[in-house]
This record gives sequence, structure tokens and C-alpha cells, in this order.
Amino acid sequence: MTTRKLRIAVYPGSFDPVTNGHLDLINRCAPLVDRLIVAVLRNAGKQPLFTAEERVEMLRSATAGMANVEVDCFDGLLVEYARRRGASLLLRGIRAISDYEYELQMALMNRRLAPEIETVFMMAGEAYSFLSSRLVKEVIALGGDVSGLVPPQVEAKLKERLPVRPPSGETSGCSSVSNK
Ligand code: PNS
Repeated sequence: MTTRKLRIAVYPGSFDPVTNGHLDLINRCAPLVDRLIVAVLRNAGKQPLFTAEERVEMLRSATAGMANVEVDCFDGLLVEYARRRGASLLLRGIRAISDYEYELQMALMNRRLAPEIETVFMMAGEAYSFLSSRLVKEVIALGGDVSGLVPPQVEAKLKERLPVRPPSGETSGCSSVSNK
């Protein structure tokens, strides 16, 4: 009897916080593999809004019904983490052509470091091709509506963490009144 090697994919990212764009990718990838590990980068160079534990918690609650999806966090080299977890695939999403250069660089560097691990790209769902965690945070901080872009519990956490800044009322420097 031959035993088939499990196909394990790692989906790495900052997930600060998870958006419905990330969840769309997770939903579409999970049926294609035996196990999908969503891996939250712990020590992002950029200062995250949420701790790694909070980001993991939000992802876990958003993926709770998905039997072959696991959420974990990692630091250090992604390919070393993937090797430790027995993964043969790295999953990344591409939204627009502007993502391509950065993703290509990472994929090629990762291939150089670990030729046995393949990066696979999935196109973001068209409804989410404009969506990023950064924009969601900006819109929330300015009092805009992000419903439908993040899970409701993530929206609540964002509102808690980023209370709306009232407009300053200052008009100097950008007044529309002509000074002629
Ligand atoms: O969601 P992000 O911020 O675009 O994800 C970037 C991430 C986490 C995939 C990338 O920063 C990463 O893999 N970091 C781990 C460190 C590493 O392995 N660096 C070399 C990659 S070429």
C-alpha cells in the first residue's frame, strides 16, 4: 500500500487585521489542499495595530467552521517555518498588477532558500481586489463604513482600537475661500 504525502499549504501574512479578502482566499484554497495553515507574522517590522495573539484570535474565530484550516503564528524565515510544518506550498493572493513585483521578489527569494517549496498565487476575488488591511484601518479611523469588508467581530475590534478622530475644524492652509 502506498501512502500519499499530505499536501500542506502555508498562507503567511500580517493579517492586521484579517479582511474578507483574506477569508475569500482561505475559503477557495482550503478545498484544494489537505491542510491550510494560516500563519501570522509575529514580528512585523511595521508596528502592527493588533498583537499577534489578537490577530490569531480574530482569524480563528473567522475560520472556526473550516475543518482543515489551522491558524498559527511564526517569526523568523517563512520557509523555515514551512519546512518545520511539513508544507510544500506557500499561498499568496494577488489583487492588482501592483502586487506583482513585491510578490515575485518574495517568491523567487523563497524558492532560492527552499527550492522544494512552491509558491502558488490565487487572484483575489474581484469584489475584494481593492481591499487591504491598511485601507480598512484608515477608513475606520476617519469614521467610514467598512461593513462587508471585514467580519463583524473584526469591525467591532477596530472601532474599539481606533476611535473616530473628530475633524479638527481648522481650515487654515486648505480653505476653499479665495484670497484674491
Ligand atoms: O501580509 P504581508 O505583510 O504582505 O506578508 C508578508 C510576509 C509575512 C509574507 C513576509 O513579510 C514574510 O514572509 N516574512 C517572514 C520573513 C521572511 O521569510 N522573509 C524573507 C521572505 S522573501
